[in-house]
Amino acid sequence: MPARPLADVQTLSLFGPEAPRAFGPGAVLLRGFATPTSDALMDAVEAVAAAAPPRRMSTPGGKPMSAAITCCGAVGWVTDRKGYRYTDRDPSSGRPWPPMPASFADVASRAAAHAGYVDFTPDACLVNHYAPGARMTLHRDEDEEDLDQPIVSISLGLPATFLFGGPTRRDRAVRLLLTHGDVVVWGGPSRLFYHGVLPVPEGRHPRLGPLRVNLTFRKAR
Ligand code: SIN
Ligand code: FE2
Repeated sequence: MPARPLADVQTLSLFGPEAPRAFGPGAVLLRGFATPTSDALMDAVEAVAAAAPPRRMSTPGGKPMSAAITCCGAVGWVTDRKGYRYTDRDPSSGRPWPPMPASFADVASRAAAHAGYVDFTPDACLVNHYAPGARMTLHRDEDEEDLDQPIVSISLGLPATFLFGGPTRRDRAVRLLLTHGDVVVWGGPSRLFYHGVLPVPEGRHPRLGPLRVNLTFRKAR
């Protein structure tokens, strides 16, 4: 009797989430972790964007960022001539940021726990909108008061290449192709590591069209 063929990786992924994969100290890729709830996440992205439209903020040096950013949660991240900071109101409207949707907080804290960070309770979520060609240059997420808590990042829509380096800008970066539903979590020894996103290639996502959306969750205060 012929031996039963071993299932390949592609087949295995049909039967449930892949095992977490470490790509740096304290940094974990959860391939497809958000796929089961991605419809609810995209509904919530649309609701947040309707209440607080994504906008191209300027760096403190005056350069417009290529991604359009909005936020939800108790506080939101902003950048302008005055610098990078968290605010409790949307400067475009003067209103509080939209509340964090329950579907966002739920998947973020489950993903953190799956990556080994228990009791993650984010108070801020940046919702980055990338049209094809938009990118995020290497930077560190360092404006949060609570650096003991990780960053949880969920990718939706078009794929993009995520760069994850080290403690200095010059450190060699690993490249991860992130697709719809992928989640990355970093914290502990890599909480302040440099990271970024290469220009998003042209494409069309069945629901989001020519767009990549990235949600990053933080405990800012
Ligand atoms: C960020 O680091 O702010 C965004 C990361 C991403 O878009 O994947
Ligand atoms: Fe970041």
